[in-house]
Amino acid sequence: MDDLNELKTRILAEIAAARDEAALEALRVAAVGKKGEVSLKMRELGKMSPEERKTAGPALNALKDEINAALAARKTALADAALEARLATEWLDVTLPGRPRRDGSVHPVSQVMEEVISIFADMGFAVAEGPQIESDWYNFDALNIPPEHPARQEHDTFFMNRAEGDARPPHVLRTHTSPVQIRHMQAHGAPCRVIAPGRVYRMDMDQTHTPMFHQVEGLAIGEDISMANLKWVLEEFCRAFFEVDEVELRFRASHFPFTEPSAEVDLRCSWEGGQLRVGEGDDWMEILGSGMVHPRVLEAGGIDPEKWQGFAFGLGIDRLAMLKYGIPDLRAFFDSDLRWLRHYGFASLEVPTVHAGLSR
Ligand code: DAH
Repeated sequence: MDDLNELKTRILAEIAAARDEAALEALRVAAVGKKGEVSLKMRELGKMSPEERKTAGPALNALKDEINAALAARKTALADAALEARLATEWLDVTLPGRPRRDGSVHPVSQVMEEVISIFADMGFAVAEGPQIESDWYNFDALNIPPEHPARQEHDTFFMNRAEGDARPPHVLRTHTSPVQIRHMQAHGAPCRVIAPGRVYRMDMDQTHTPMFHQVEGLAIGEDISMANLKWVLEEFCRAFFEVDEVELRFRASHFPFTEPSAEVDLRCSWEGGQLRVGEGDDWMEILGSGMVHPRVLEAGGIDPEKWQGFAFGLGIDRLAMLKYGIPDLRAFFDSDLRWLRHYGFASLEVPTVHAGLSR
């Protein structure tokens, strides 16, 4: 009996000290495996007298149970410890604030787009979109620019390739955002109030022209919309965009095929000391084209010109960005020069809104 107690004390101590599952398994085999110490002792029961067997049998069984229970308990304890250790190394504090990367910035064109969108959104204008590869019908015909119209030449259009033998007129890279007017009218009808910002393309390249540039189109249609509404909307826009209290606009009679009457709009400014000041001085700076939507354009959009009328305008985003942020050469916009982007770029986490300030 004494050696059974000794055996028990030793094996239980070894189990308690086992460092991992492999060590536990080795102990199990050595104690209660087929040829384990306890199993061998059980085999000896056969050679014992019935008297001896009566006490030794239950004692050995009890020992075997105790060893098995200790093995299971140690196994659970080891698994728990392993999980704790893993949790400790994979710990991540999700409440830490993000670290803004300092080498990315928002391009001035994107910044100005966001500014323009947020200003017009405050006046109830939604954003409309259209394709950059456009049919010549949307880009020209529907806007009252028939094939023989000189405006088609003035636009220095990029034409897409046609398959040989295909007699249809080729698609074009849209030369302005005005075709989005037609698409929006067709899809949503009247009344409407939208702007359409996006890329446009013309074959032109110098200090103030690049073959791809950005425009924002405006379109508002209702039963009694007039030039007065146009003037107010544009004044509000300029005041908000240039972040000044007062602006003065000058409407100059002009001609666009898609508006009648048409006006080019100039903004009072001063260039004293080479610096632009909006709302003061004696200079005038042309900023956009506009007018009342031509009845034929309404018709092309599926809208009854007897019932509806509206205004439209189109302005160049890149030039607005140059003016507002003092950028001298348009071509640098598209050079992807990191030094330029760092200098003229904007913080990536700040979203321009009219109420919080557009260009902090
Ligand atoms: N589409 C004209 C252009 O690209 C700009 C423009 C002028 C748009 C007058 C308009 C408008 O909607 O009414 O030069």
